Amino acid sequence: MKRVFNFSAGPAMLPEEVLREAQADMLDYKGSGMSVMEMSHRSAEFKEIIETAEQDLRDLLSIPENYQVLFLQGGATQQFAAIPMNLMRKKKADYIVSGSWSKKAFKEAKLYGEANCVASSEDGNFSYIPDVDALTFNEDADYVYICQNETIYGTTYHKLPETGDVPLVADVSSMFLSEPMDVSRYGLIFGGVQKNIGPAGVVIVIVRDDLVHDDPLPFTPTIMRYATQVEAKSLSNTPPCYGIYICGLVFKWLKGIGGLAAMQKRNIEKANLLYDFLDQSELFRATARKEDRSLMNVPFVTGSDELDALFVKEAKGHDIVSIKGHRSVGGMRASIYNAMPREGVEALVAFMEEFEKAHR
Ligand SMILES: Cc1ncc(COP(=O)(O)O)c(C=O)c1O
Repeated sequence: MKRVFNFSAGPAMLPEEVLREAQADMLDYKGSGMSVMEMSHRSAEFKEIIETAEQDLRDLLSIPENYQVLFLQGGATQQFAAIPMNLMRKKKADYIVSGSWSKKAFKEAKLYGEANCVASSEDGNFSYIPDVDALTFNEDADYVYICQNETIYGTTYHKLPETGDVPLVADVSSMFLSEPMDVSRYGLIFGGVQKNIGPAGVVIVIVRDDLVHDDPLPFTPTIMRYATQVEAKSLSNTPPCYGIYICGLVFKWLKGIGGLAAMQKRNIEKANLLYDFLDQSELFRATARKEDRSLMNVPFVTGSDELDALFVKEAKGHDIVSIKGHRSVGGMRASIYNAMPREGVEALVAFMEEFEKAHR
């Protein structure tokens, strides 16, 4: 068996310990005589799995009592619609457009009401996060929306916008559980789990009680109403059971290594290794503005399309895979999520040094 260093932006690496535990549980989950994949979502065993997963997530993020935790299907993209449908009661929301993902969410929101773009970094090819201190928000907006870590451009908010009484809604897909967060700063947090937490197919929504309305926009499908899922504890219909089980194992793994502060420390060390190399390199260059750099997604280029392509090709020979940049921007991107070991980043930097010597 050979494991590679997988720098994919998602689905992405999972901790090897978690995969081994899932492997051990595969045929007979805790004496049940079946796999979690074969188990009724109404069984006592699954009830324990989902309830434990929720509690562990609550412990990791210190989620206050007045927030609900939902494990849903439809990916983060479905939330681009579910959020306006459930929250746009005055039919008005402010969006900060800092990259492809917030742009998509903004476009979707326009289908349901007045979505205002209060700031955009598209003029700089989304290489930076707009200055949140310079912004004023509509006081009568239902919410202010951000994508807190833009996966494609490798930018992140190091400071959150002050939105007063207007709830802040954040897509945290590509930074979920990579560092501690103050949940009370937000009205709603959501993210697909396939980057930092588990297999594709689960999206986690953390929503404050007062935003769970019984009367969302009238056409909101029953299954997409937060109230439906809150009442059913995410079991309104069959949930993505196996995915939730793996998320639960990852939560335990995170607790085992010391929680989110310990995870953040590891992530900073890994990211610094790569950024320090990039900053002194005469061949490679990081594309995101320094102050807004992400700890999770690191896009970089050589300046030559041919050399970029050669780098991606030769990297495979060093067990460095999925390092190609997003098709919309080209170049390279190293996604160094929680489960990427430090050795993976070391191997990448070593190969970059070697490549630079050969091609400078
Ligand atoms: C920040 C962000 N938001 C949303 C999405 C879309 O997620 P999904 O494919 O789960 O709908 C992605 C996917 O890569 C993402 O990186």
